[in-house]
Amino acid sequence: MEFTKNILITGGAGFIGSHVVRLFVNKYPNYRIINFDKLTYAGNLSNLVDIETKSNYCFVKGDICSIQDLSDVFTTYQISDVIHLAAESHVDRSIEGPMEFVMTNVVGTVHLLQKAKENWSDGNHVFHHVSTDEVYGSLGEEGLFQETTPYDPRSPYSASKASSDHFVRAYFHTYGLPVKMSNCSNNYGSHHFPEKLIPLIIHNIVNKIPLPVYGKGENIRDWLWVEDHANAIDVIFHQGRLGESYNVGGLNEWKNIDLVKYLCKILDKKLNREEGENEKLITFVKDRAGHDARYAIDATKLETELGWKPSIQFEEGLEKTVDWYLQNQDWVEKVTSGSYKEYYERMYK
Ligand code: NAD
Ligand code: TYD
Repeated sequence: MEFTKNILITGGAGFIGSHVVRLFVNKYPNYRIINFDKLTYAGNLSNLVDIETKSNYCFVKGDICSIQDLSDVFTTYQISDVIHLAAESHVDRSIEGPMEFVMTNVVGTVHLLQKAKENWSDGNHVFHHVSTDEVYGSLGEEGLFQETTPYDPRSPYSASKASSDHFVRAYFHTYGLPVKMSNCSNNYGSHHFPEKLIPLIIHNIVNKIPLPVYGKGENIRDWLWVEDHANAIDVIFHQGRLGESYNVGGLNEWKNIDLVKYLCKILDKKLNREEGENEKLITFVKDRAGHDARYAIDATKLETELGWKPSIQFEEGLEKTVDWYLQNQDWVEKVTSGSYKEYYERMYK
């Protein structure tokens, strides 16, 4: 079959990437989707079992830091477009070891930009860079991140993502590479690796392990259903203006402690435990170094210009997420065996 586009999705075996791959494979049978992923601890092909036999999908194990891997995949598949999600994504790990974040998020992104530049001679291509709202820094009690908010990254993770965003813009301005960018708030949903707050708390409640809340639990995050993020990437990839950034978020701010208590309540019911039993597991632990106080994002540009809006309320999405984890304990077992245990020991003991 002749495909109309050959889209390289980097990091397609990760949390958000697997949702983006699934959406594109199912919605666009005329596109060939090439999932290019190094399969680090965060990448898991069992995230994609439901689509792995589709004729418009293929997987290539590769590293965005390897020029050879990138040359091979661009040549073999005549890559026409890129949706770039591959990254080291966890703030706590970036505090433990920033260099891996510099290598993958900065150096890897520049290798990928360079490969696209070398291979694309006309304007009929899109390089969509997926980034985070954490590049804007930390908010006080008021205000929202706008696309015009000056960058002020404060963790090694956000500094590496900010740097990659700057390189993407530089390739647009300097070489005319056809780029689009999105900066999204915290995602939640199925297949989320249990090092991040929501899946870690669900996992610990199920196993009656203490629930570690950093500091006083007063920090605020703005949570978005991962499939709404994937929909936003679809809309921006197809209709967004070249060289532009779009903020993605659903105006859904939660204090960490309120969110943890809410998860405790949902799971008291679902696990037939006494009311309040799970809350007893909450343990306040040492705060994260340089912990950003509040994230909150304004997605008005995406909504008014491209007609995107979130599809689901947080309470409904969170319940679906909890159900997914309860029904997929084998997935959780698999990803939390081995190196996860060592990580957990190091981090929390
Ligand atoms: P994740 O950690 O779950 O997955 C990252 C994926 O990238 C994994 O499959 C991993 O194997 C792959 N990868 C890592 N290094 C690689 C390399 N050198 N070469 C090829 N593949 C490599 O991350 P996620 O939460 O799905 O985030 C995906 C993207 O979205 C990231 O760029 C992240 O910065 C961004 N983002 C995440 C969130 C969030 O809430 N998780 C919010 C906004 C933006
Ligand atoms: P996280 O899911 O790591 O996302 P990010 O740091 O990128 O926002 O953390 C979300 C919030 O939850 C953040 O304020 C840190 C806090 N947190 C805890 O209190 N305990 C934990 O064990 C983890 C992983 C996070």
